[in-house]
Amino acid sequence: TKWKVYVTRPVPQPAIDMLAEHCEVEVNPEDRVLSHEELIEKVKGRDGIFCLLTDIIDAEVLDAAKGAKVFANMAVGFNNIDVQAATERGILITNTPGVLTEATADMAWALLFAVARRIVEADKYMRAGKYKAWGPLLFLGQEITGKTLGVIGAGRIGTAFARKAKGFNMRVLYNDVEPNPQFEAETGGVFVDKDTLLREADFVSLHVPLLPSTYHLIGERELKLMKKTAILINTSRGPVVDEKALVQALKEGEIWGAGLDVFENEPEMAPGLAELDNVVVCPHIASATWDTRIAMATMAARNLLAALRGELPPQCVNPEAYYKRQEAK
Ligand code: GLV
Ligand code: GLV
Repeated sequence: TKWKVYVTRPVPQPAIDMLAEHCEVEVNPEDRVLSHEELIEKVKGRDGIFCLLTDIIDAEVLDAAKGAKVFANMAVGFNNIDVQAATERGILITNTPGVLTEATADMAWALLFAVARRIVEADKYMRAGKYKAWGPLLFLGQEITGKTLGVIGAGRIGTAFARKAKGFNMRVLYNDVEPNPQFEAETGGVFVDKDTLLREADFVSLHVPLLPSTYHLIGERELKLMKKTAILINTSRGPVVDEKALVQALKEGEIWGAGLDVFENEPEMAPGLAELDNVVVCPHIASATWDTRIAMATMAARNLLAALRGELPPQCVNPEAYYKRQEAK
């Protein structure tokens, strides 16, 4: 009998095709997030689940999926999954690192440019028929070339983001839990403490995973340390920024602007955020290119199939669960 696999939402077809070669695949036909109750019903009796960052995989869901070997998350971040609970149950969790690095770094740049050069405001102005003549003071923004870039989180994405700064002749400062020689070799970046980075950077971009230690990494105190002309970019996870404090800082001119692809309470925005002209907001689309989404989906499918075959999947975040299963045999 074929393995039974559930896919929580339509995903790029090449991944479904890969799974269908070896498994009985059911895909949620509706392009929406399943409720917790629906998820609990749907995972029952499956050998593997292909899930998304919008699926909250907690102990209840894991218990409902009794017998499942794997939850393959189509995302690099896996803060939506209770990994410890999965490990305790011998369920493998996989993610999709690497394949979305450049797309996400590109998006951070897109947001930086959009905010610094007021692209969205200017576009709205054109469409509203307000453009009467070239103006010496029309839509003045922030110069990017030659400025100081502050990168918080020197992993794959932070490194790719900083590497792209070379073309703009920038000084790169970075901060992380520890210095990263690879980051320095690729970007020429200099390790500084977080407060120094916030005080000196013209642009601060966040590339950390969401962890208890990165929750509200940027709050009122940090925003006050930043330059009044600074721009904050967040393509990581919403709760890394205290969004209420950010709205306040943007309103009061503590910082100059922000570009956000993620929100503290997705899909909601903090009250007041949508009314501000100095922010550019996007619906969590940093990895949303055809190439990248296909690569993410097929990577998740490969991880899922490997787990079903009894192998340690290439991108497993809790290999302990695998060894636990081996011992139990
Ligand atoms: C997207 O946010 C991801 O974690 O892949
Ligand atoms: C995630 O892919 C990171 O290491 O930045």
